[in-house]
Amino acid sequence: MPRWKRRAYNIAALRAQARRVLPRAVFDFVDGGAGDEHTLRRNASAFDDVALYPRPIGGTRERDLSTTLFGRQLSMPLIVPPTGLAGLLWPDGEAASASAATKAGSIYALSHGSVCSLEELAENDIEPLWFQTYIFKDRGLTHEMAARAEAAGYEALIVTIDTQLLGNRERDIRNGFVIPPTMSAREVANMATKLGWLFRMRHVIPNITFGNYRRPDGGEDLTALAQRMLRLPDPGMQWRDIADLRAVWKGPLLLKGILHPADAVEAVANGVDGMFVSNHGGRQLDGAASALDALPAVAEAVGGRAAVILDGGIRRGAHIVKALALGADCCTVGRPQFWGLSVAGEAGVSHVFDIFRRELDLTMGLCGLPNIASIGPDVLARGTATETARLAAASEAVAAAAAAVVESGNAAENGGGDGAGEKAVPIAETGGPAGPEPTRYGDWERKGRAIDF
Ligand SMILES: Cc1cc2nc3c(=O)[nH]c(=O)nc-3n(C[C@H](O)[C@H](O)[C@H](O)COP(=O)(O)O)c2cc1C
Repeated sequence: MPRWKRRAYNIAALRAQARRVLPRAVFDFVDGGAGDEHTLRRNASAFDDVALYPRPIGGTRERDLSTTLFGRQLSMPLIVPPTGLAGLLWPDGEAASASAATKAGSIYALSHGSVCSLEELAENDIEPLWFQTYIFKDRGLTHEMAARAEAAGYEALIVTIDTQLLGNRERDIRNGFVIPPTMSAREVANMATKLGWLFRMRHVIPNITFGNYRRPDGGEDLTALAQRMLRLPDPGMQWRDIADLRAVWKGPLLLKGILHPADAVEAVANGVDGMFVSNHGGRQLDGAASALDALPAVAEAVGGRAAVILDGGIRRGAHIVKALALGADCCTVGRPQFWGLSVAGEAGVSHVFDIFRRELDLTMGLCGLPNIASIGPDVLARGTATETARLAAASEAVAAAAAAVVESGNAAENGGGDGAGEKAVPIAETGGPAGPEPTRYGDWERKGRAIDF
């Protein structure tokens, strides 16, 4: 076994190795969050407030970790969310991560901000293909990206809604890892000490780009390209933009960046098939609720009508069990995937999946849980003060959210008035959240709770 693998006995140990191999500015770009990084820390610490309640008798000798998402069988409920600039960590980083995910029986979602283009990734043996995009000020571009993804064979489209403005990433400011770059001599010197990374990337660095935004003539340097990209997303997006995209995208459509249960209800009403309960890994609004804290209310509001994916802070197999017990159908692994990629490319990402698989299996075994479907609220120690408070808050939030959505629907029906009708497409217009919806995809259909699509 290679030394890096022996040392990477868990995700925290892998992170420590990534810190050693990456230039500080690059490590911080991956590792950091917005502002005081309160939300970043809370994403992880929220799991500590949830206790498990093992019931060992009745367990099985072997556990079945598999689940299904949109008709696809996954080896376990863990996928790679969109993470931009993978190609800065390892040559062909996107293909390396995606290949590891495919071989692990998982899903890799390509970021809009990838180094390779979505068409280039699709030339690899990756299945299924998922792509993430934004609502751009130029709606033509929004639809063009979706059309390109469809033409290249992408199955699912993710619209990230929480990056309409770039978060205040203070580590990047300190390190000069900004657009345009303002790296100090110290940072450049630090890069020169990371010999392995420098050697691997020596032919790649001059060609780093944002593949999906490259103009055919190529006549734009990286800084100009990045500056142009920053201005493209629309902070003035509306629910009708989601509905418009729904009308043209035939496969599963997911929103990423849902925290409020009222938005979860709106998302379902606008035909969304799944959502990432997410604060962008604490990289956008510092002070935002942690993904896990927001999860129960969102799951309750969705009520099995769409897939709920917990995104943020997953570092242990036990975290997956806790998230599923609180209503998630699946989880994501953002930074850990990047730490694995930085240390050993595809093999590093495969190792990340191996760590989670081992820990998830052990947790399920110790809890007496034979399969994913058996993970429910019963496995949580509800008696703890934090858990009781969490569930009470979730119920209150759902009630408030439902009331808010009904109210906004009424306001819109009554002429909208002051723009409140802008924010929400009235439920009545979309058939109502609980109403039957047509099945759009030949090979999967909605039934009951979302993992069983
Ligand atoms: C370096 C980096 C780049 C990211 N790029 C994107 C992106 O392009 N689009 C997106 O929707 N989310 C992006 N994210 C957020 C992730 O999809 C995900 O929400 C976050 O990493 C989850 O938190 P975790 O790292 O604790 O797992 C990025 C995250 C990181 C760390």
